[in-house]
Amino acid sequence: MHEKIIILDFGSQTTQLIGRRIRELNTYCEIVPYNKFPCGANDIKGVILSGSPYSVYDDKAFRADLAAVRGAYPVLGICYGAQYMAYTSGGNVENANSREYGRTHLARIDMNDPLMKGVHTGSQVWMSHGDTITTLPAPFRVIASTGDVEAAAFHIEGEQTWGVQFHPEVFHTTDGRQILDNFLDICGCKKDWTPASFIELTVAGLKEQLRDDKVILALSGGVDSSVTAVLLNRAIGKNLTCIFVDHGLLRKNEFENVLKDYEHLGLNVIGINAKDKFYKALAGVTDPEQKRKIIGKGFIDVFDEEAHKLKDIKWLGQGTIYPDVIESLSITGTVIKSHHNVGGLPEKMHLKLVEPLRLLFKDEVRKVGMELGMMPHLIKRHPFPGPGLGIRIISDVTPEKVDILQNADDIYITLLREWGLYEDVWQAAAILLPIRSVGVMGDERTYENTVVLRAVTSTDAMTADWAQLPYDFLAKASNEIINKVKGVNRVVYDISSKPPSTIEWE
Ligand code: XMP
Repeated sequence: MHEKIIILDFGSQTTQLIGRRIRELNTYCEIVPYNKFPCGANDIKGVILSGSPYSVYDDKAFRADLAAVRGAYPVLGICYGAQYMAYTSGGNVENANSREYGRTHLARIDMNDPLMKGVHTGSQVWMSHGDTITTLPAPFRVIASTGDVEAAAFHIEGEQTWGVQFHPEVFHTTDGRQILDNFLDICGCKKDWTPASFIELTVAGLKEQLRDDKVILALSGGVDSSVTAVLLNRAIGKNLTCIFVDHGLLRKNEFENVLKDYEHLGLNVIGINAKDKFYKALAGVTDPEQKRKIIGKGFIDVFDEEAHKLKDIKWLGQGTIYPDVIESLSITGTVIKSHHNVGGLPEKMHLKLVEPLRLLFKDEVRKVGMELGMMPHLIKRHPFPGPGLGIRIISDVTPEKVDILQNADDIYITLLREWGLYEDVWQAAAILLPIRSVGVMGDERTYENTVVLRAVTSTDAMTADWAQLPYDFLAKASNEIINKVKGVNRVVYDISSKPPSTIEWE
């Protein structure tokens, strides 16, 4: 097992970000709920306590028993994590008069403290709390202050324990990466967690776990399932069978192109054309969640039927990644849309689950894919929802509407690539509205469909900003779509961010 940092999650919105930063420093880490510290694990090198939406005084505040942590491992408390340690050790935490929120600067720093090595006086830090520590108990020593906050950072003498009231994990804290790196040095981390080491360890682990067992995996054309397949293929070769279903809601020519890519990668893949079955089941259905259910169930049926033609399958491979895992463990999370397309599949098929990417973030999955030698266009592909164009046609789904949307989407995505904009955005989509409007083409009056273009920037799809694509590009995309796609006479651009909107329209 690899050495790791444990991040105790007290519910802050930036907990995941702490995890990402630690991984960027080539150190493996796991995020666990504040009250689920894995006592007794011998590969833990240090512990980070996250921030929290609560104040230490709140009735609902998350209170952790740190007896197994403090003194046993190096500890870094961030924001609430720091205040909680000060408060429970007899210090004072008060609601700040000047609620310090946002940017401020470190005015005094103890350069000799190992946590502050290489941090500059005057460097910007990001605060986001209504509380502040006003007095520290005896063994606590201030190691950095801002103009307003004396105990911006502290070290507990005689213990390998530190606290910072600002957020080193956010981009706006200029020396934040240095501080986290210093903490990893304090923990004695080797910092040798890389995509190559992940692949080596994972493939060895999969060989051990699966031995001569047979595994079946559903491929979607997306990054996660494709990387999962290549990893499993490395470990068990032909004992892996992949199934790629065309539900008729993929992008234009996607099924044929991706199937070729998979064959080129040496995967043992069965492609199934099930378009008609899905179109039939979706006829007349307009409710988004209903569509999702029908597509999910249709998928399970097709997959199950194929799997039964194979003999002795014991495992189901899945491309689950870390944000899905954290969401399911989350102490505060709420689910807005049901994104889990094939929940229920393992139970129905009586198979055990194997999920080799379940501890990776999306950008790490991409790095692993590159390291595995997969084609860049397969790795850098935008996320695409399981129900596909089914939830981008805002009304009932018909083959004719799919055809219109596939053509408009193809023009849009091809142009994004040609203009060098594809990789600047997290995700782009064309959406077909159930609204017709009047237009004029030549001498003729038209009464046709509206297509929405959407593009967002994001790091994890939890939040997203609408992408500020150049006007010239939008003009070109609009012209091409209206001129070339029969049935469309109007194109609009979506300028909503998430929240309060979502990325998809349904
Ligand atoms: P929203 O629309 O919730 O989307 O902002 C966030 C991310 O999830 C994708 N998405 C889905 N993916 N099945 C999926 O596999 C779904 O039903 C689904 N709905 C949304 C969306 O494309 C975006 O990347």
